[in-house]
Amino acid sequence: MRIEVLKHHAGIGTPRDDLSSKLKVLVTRDLPGDAISRLSERCQVDLPTPDEEIGHGRMIEHLADKQGLLCLLTDRIDAEVLDNAPLLKVISVCAVGYNNVAVEEATRRGIIVTNTPGVLRETTADLTWALLLAAARRIPEGDRMVRSGGFVGWSPSLLLGRDVHGKTLGIIGMGDIGAAVARRAAGFGMRILYHNRNPSPLAAEVGAEMASLDHLLSNADFVSLHVPLSQSTRHLIGKRELDMMRPTAILINVSRGEVVDEAALVDALRNGRIAGAGLDVYENEPKLAPGLVELDNVVLAPHVGSASVETREKMAQMAVRNLMDGLEGKKPPHLVNPQAYRG
Ligand code: GLV
Repeated sequence: MRIEVLKHHAGIGTPRDDLSSKLKVLVTRDLPGDAISRLSERCQVDLPTPDEEIGHGRMIEHLADKQGLLCLLTDRIDAEVLDNAPLLKVISVCAVGYNNVAVEEATRRGIIVTNTPGVLRETTADLTWALLLAAARRIPEGDRMVRSGGFVGWSPSLLLGRDVHGKTLGIIGMGDIGAAVARRAAGFGMRILYHNRNPSPLAAEVGAEMASLDHLLSNADFVSLHVPLSQSTRHLIGKRELDMMRPTAILINVSRGEVVDEAALVDALRNGRIAGAGLDVYENEPKLAPGLVELDNVVLAPHVGSASVETREKMAQMAVRNLMDGLEGKKPPHLVNPQAYRG
């Protein structure tokens, strides 16, 4: 474990510096850009070396004396971790999804939880479209064919895909990211259906019609998932829902793997119940459901929805800002559990 200690600047001895200098934070993985080195100017940062993995057990050891935690979506912050972090005040998740944190448990202990929404909206919408277009036009299959020497000349029936323009896009979860995906559909002249628990204030701007889940599934040519993972969205798409989709339809998931019953999806893809899928997330990440990799009609990305240089740097800055504000008693801009904030 590499320990970076606060650098005291001679002559800068304000009371706030004194307060910050005593704060200890655990950062579970180094992040792109200079956000973490800037954090280390204000706090004592405990950061693993690049080859070190902070698993559940080590997390517990290292949180014993920390007031702050900056973690990733892969770090499981459960009641056991919280029970062993007596000084912890702020958990800053460097992701929009925070299903890896036991938020209610944190709230009960007065620990605030923050995330990084907004800043990754457009980048994640771009990736959604990359998967949608790649799946519809069978780009990875073509890439594999060309690389392996299988492209022996133009043919009228080679790798026929599906048109995207003029089709119906079904968005499940019309929040920030869902609306950014829908906005891009205007350029493709698509009709947009959406399904949400409540009518979305963003729907009118993107010209989307609200629909029941079943209506959306049976009418959309592309179904794209943008819901957070919760008890009510776990396996939102299972056998029943896949059976309702058109045999020509394509499913896109950039939300969380557990929203889809991956074994049922493998069956549906294998049996041609749906035409294809584009996935960025998996039910038991990084493991894949048996049979998934053997299928040609699925495009697989390694959870890179927000993975652009610009956005990952902005997320790191935002996560540090959330953490510092929380530690200094200010209300962080992206507070997940305002009930825990005592300003
Ligand atoms: C990525 O999956 C995120 O939640 O930020």
